[in-house]
Amino acid sequence: MTSKRIVLGITGGIAAYKSADLVRRLRERGAEVQVVMTAGAREFITPTTLQAVSHRPVRDSLWDAAAEAAMGHIELARWADLVLVAPATANFMAKLAHGAADDLLTTLCLATKAPVVLAPAMNWAMWEHPATQANKDLLEERGVRLLGPGEGALAESESGVGRMLEPIEIAEAVMSPRIDPALRGVEVVVTAGPTREPIDPVRFISNRSSGKMGYAVARALAEQGAKVTLISGPVALAPPAGVKVQYVESAADMYDAVIHRLEQMDMFVGTAAVADYSPASPAVTKIKKEKGSMELSLARTRDILATVASSGRPIFTVGFAAETNDLETHARNKLRSKKLDMVAANWVGEGRGFDADSNALQVFWPGGSTEIPQDDKLVVARRLVSLIAAHYRRRQEG
Ligand code: CTP
Repeated sequence: MTSKRIVLGITGGIAAYKSADLVRRLRERGAEVQVVMTAGAREFITPTTLQAVSHRPVRDSLWDAAAEAAMGHIELARWADLVLVAPATANFMAKLAHGAADDLLTTLCLATKAPVVLAPAMNWAMWEHPATQANKDLLEERGVRLLGPGEGALAESESGVGRMLEPIEIAEAVMSPRIDPALRGVEVVVTAGPTREPIDPVRFISNRSSGKMGYAVARALAEQGAKVTLISGPVALAPPAGVKVQYVESAADMYDAVIHRLEQMDMFVGTAAVADYSPASPAVTKIKKEKGSMELSLARTRDILATVASSGRPIFTVGFAAETNDLETHARNKLRSKKLDMVAANWVGEGRGFDADSNALQVFWPGGSTEIPQDDKLVVARRLVSLIAAHYRRRQEG
């Protein structure tokens, strides 16, 4: 069971009395749960109950100085792997659909990059109202996942559609990862980050790659059940959950680490910004400055991606291309010349920094292409991984 950090938002509906049970069900399945209540929710269930079952102080205000000092609301939005709102009232859905941020929970939902899941609960007439239905459609279009509502007995002795799903159903739905069977158990090697090419023991040539995209791709692959080894150049990132990481420095080290795994590899994703040139003969001792200028002789490094793609083993290979101009032409050339299955290309330069948290990709394969629009790198990585899975499945079948 994976440990998942869940912010559980509780809004003001009668189904809030089931939230304590939901906390328990989520924790049983390995989740850490931070409860965030709206003012309305406090009319239905007390923070004391929820604190007791979640083992964490409940948050209910943007203006609680002590709680904010312990973990600010933006920090909490980043802490979450998932924001689950159960019950989600019609009013809460309306606020979320229109970007309101007038309390802690709505603010968190706007600030988080984590998936947002709602379990709506309301009277059937409120659910059926065109305004609620339009809000539901808008939220779904933006990627919010709705669980339910179900049909059955409602408050005020009525029945119909509007009932919150049972806590166990909600817990099962959010805690059992939807794994793409095409990637389950597939051995993938991902390279990420820059490399450092030594000039002497204290100096090197490197580049601006942050490794963020590669780490996001490794994480997204692992989420789909792949066995991922990440061969990483020097970066300032935490290792992604469920991924084996091997750190390397130079292009030559990265080459060796990848080739060492060639026999076990089913798939290779080269996101690293591998140096194309390396000092031909790095000095053993620190180079002392002299009066005149200095020349550095550089030698070409070996192309890891091309070597993997032409190894003779049936390895599904995905390359990356960062281009400042003629993106499609360059990307298609790489696809052809390196004999790849797929190339993910992005624009760089003119303020489109390497260290950015968001990215957009144009993905090319023999005979086709698609665009993944600008979004957080993890969101983009997950879309790329679904595309890779679909193509990998097709190749395995065909
Ligand atoms: N790559 C690699 N080993 C190298 C160089 C690049 O595996 N020694 C991989 C990268 O990880 C990336 C792709 O190849 O997936 C980038 O292709 P490349 O042709 O090196 O890109 P550029 O250096 O940008 O190419 P060019 O100078 O031709 O534009």
